[in-house]
Amino acid sequence: MKKTRLVVLISGNGTNLQAILDACAEQTLPAQVVAVFSNKPEAYGLERARRAGVPAIAFPRREGESRPDYDHRLAEAVEEFQPAYVILAGWMRLLSMAFLGRFPNRVINLHPALPGAFPGTHAIERAYAAWQRGEVNCSGVTIHIVPDESVDAGPVLAVQQIDFCPGESLEEFEGRVHEVEHQLLVNTLKTVLERSL
Ligand code: GAR
Repeated sequence: MKKTRLVVLISGNGTNLQAILDACAEQTLPAQVVAVFSNKPEAYGLERARRAGVPAIAFPRREGESRPDYDHRLAEAVEEFQPAYVILAGWMRLLSMAFLGRFPNRVINLHPALPGAFPGTHAIERAYAAWQRGEVNCSGVTIHIVPDESVDAGPVLAVQQIDFCPGESLEEFEGRVHEVEHQLLVNTLKTVLERSL
């Protein structure tokens, strides 16, 4: 089986990275994670990568380094692993064209809300708060291509709507969002890889 090379960028816990690693190990995803990068050296996701035998690279911004300089340095480092796709799985740093221009149509982002809704950080908490105020009755998970510097926006690959359940806590809702993310991310990558073979 031909395995597609993936580089995964993370900033935190890495449960979505884990879903990808597990799907690769179980061969439900015809892919291989060839490197994991984190802008946060303390991110637990790096430990998950190490445990899976994948190069785990802490890649913090240097003092005084500009965004384009950091993104250029990151692109050079990522390119060494020759990925077919770069997956942003909880990567919480805006990427400029200095990075994105190097991987056109090959950067895929996961966002824990519906397309265009709650871009940026704390999307789950903000959606929950909006529900409590009676402004929305659903949220969701979006997977999209990252063409440019717009935050959490770009051509949509997959969306799953998640309706709020009466009386549920933020923790319960968050758990349901993560469950959907883990499945939708793996299934969407599978579809993308099958299409590009
Ligand atoms: C996920 O919920 C992901 O959708 C979100 O960060 C979390 C990372 O969790 N990404 C964004 O909010 C992007 N705007 P994980 O580290 O356990 O995979």
